[in-house]
Parts: sequence; structure tokens; C-alpha cells
Amino acid sequence: MRIDILTIFPEMFSGPFDHSIIKRAKEKGVADIYIHDIREFSNNKHRNVDDYAFGGGAGMVMMIQPIADCIEQLKKERSYDEIIFLTPDGFLFDQPMANRLSLKGNIILLCGHYKGIDERLREHYTTLEISIGDYVLSGGELAAAVISDAIIRLIPGVLNDETSALSDSYQDNLLSPPVYTRPSEYNGWKVPDVLLSGNEKEIIKWQREKAIERTRQRRPGLLNPDQAH
Ligand code: ADE
Repeated sequence: MRIDILTIFPEMFSGPFDHSIIKRAKEKGVADIYIHDIREFSNNKHRNVDDYAFGGGAGMVMMIQPIADCIEQLKKERSYDEIIFLTPDGFLFDQPMANRLSLKGNIILLCGHYKGIDERLREHYTTLEISIGDYVLSGGELAAAVISDAIIRLIPGVLNDETSALSDSYQDNLLSPPVYTRPSEYNGWKVPDVLLSGNEKEIIKWQREKAIERTRQRRPGLLNPDQAH
């Protein structure tokens, strides 16, 4: 999979993809991430990428030209399955969406800033608009990093134990049960007996009960998907 990220803050990506699972995915060659500085595509002598909004109102709007030129150049080199704009008014990102996106070949993630991007970019280039949650970030960069992480780890061969993605919270609409490791007692705090019992059937039953209990308390909407969100 190839991910091209368009941003006015390329430095923001010098950390998130250089560690752990995503680093390994890049080293293995299963995921390539390219960062493009939108400012480098500006025709303007001051390398401006934003301008005042027609009709007034507070805040600047990201201009068409630099972003359109960047996308056009990338599209000349290969075709893209999705051109995704990160925006708080997009479709809410969730695990099924991550699963779907992990099957794509090439995607573009466009990071917005200021009051947004010229609507014509959304009409003519964007194929999907995603929000990572009901809160407003100062730009799309962190959202792009979150989405990249969530989808890259799902690509076969990225996780060591391939089943571990299947047992993630959300894959079966349940939050994960509690987990413990050694020592079995610390400060008088004990690991539940059933986990030490060796009785696999009882252990699975306990884990499922705990997962349901935690989901009911914290995310009841997941148990009744029709009422979710
Ligand atoms: N840009 C600003 N806020 C955002 C959000 N919640 N999700 C995606 N992109 C954003």
C-alpha cells in the first residue's frame, strides 16, 4: 500500500511513522508513506497557500491551485483508489472503515488547515472525507497519522501474530477484556484465579463476560449498532 500525505506541516510526520509497527511495515516494504509539502506547489511568489474567504467571515481558506497541482502531479504517476480529506465534518472513522481502507492500493490523505479548503477541491478531487472524532483538531495532520496507523497495522504480515488484529477491540463490536501478566500478585493485588486455572473454556467464558460488561458500561451503542453514535 502507498499513502501520499499532503500537508503544509511536513515536519509533523517526522515522528509518528518512525517507530514500532509502522516502522516495521515500511522496512518490510508493505507500506510506503510519502509526505508532500503543499507550499512547494504554490505558484505565488510568497508561497502562499491560503487566502481570505469570499463573502467574509473569520479565518483563511486553503487555495485550490497548490493542492490541485500536487494532486494532478501524483495522479499522473499512478492512479489512486481514494483521495481522502481529513475534516471534522467528514464521515466518522471506525474499525470497519479502517478494514476497508487497508485493502486499498494507493491513497492520498489531504490535511486541511485554517477554516478549511476551497469547496471546489472537495467537489472535484476528494472521494472520501473522514473525521477521526467529534472534536476539532488544529489541522488534519494528526488525523492523517491516526488513520495511517490504524490501516497499516491491518495489512497482512505487519503484525507478528496475525490473529492479534482480529482480537482487537471493535473487530467484534466488543471492547477488549482486561489482561494481566506476571507477577500473579503485586502489592497484594491478585490476578483473577480463573486466568491461572489453566481451564481454557472457563477462561474464554470469563474474558467474554468481562468484554461484554466493559462494553455495556463504556460503549453501550456498540452492543446495539443501530443506536450507535
Ligand atoms: N481536522 C480537524 N479536526 C479533525 C478531526 N476531528 N478529524 C479529522 N480531521 C480534522
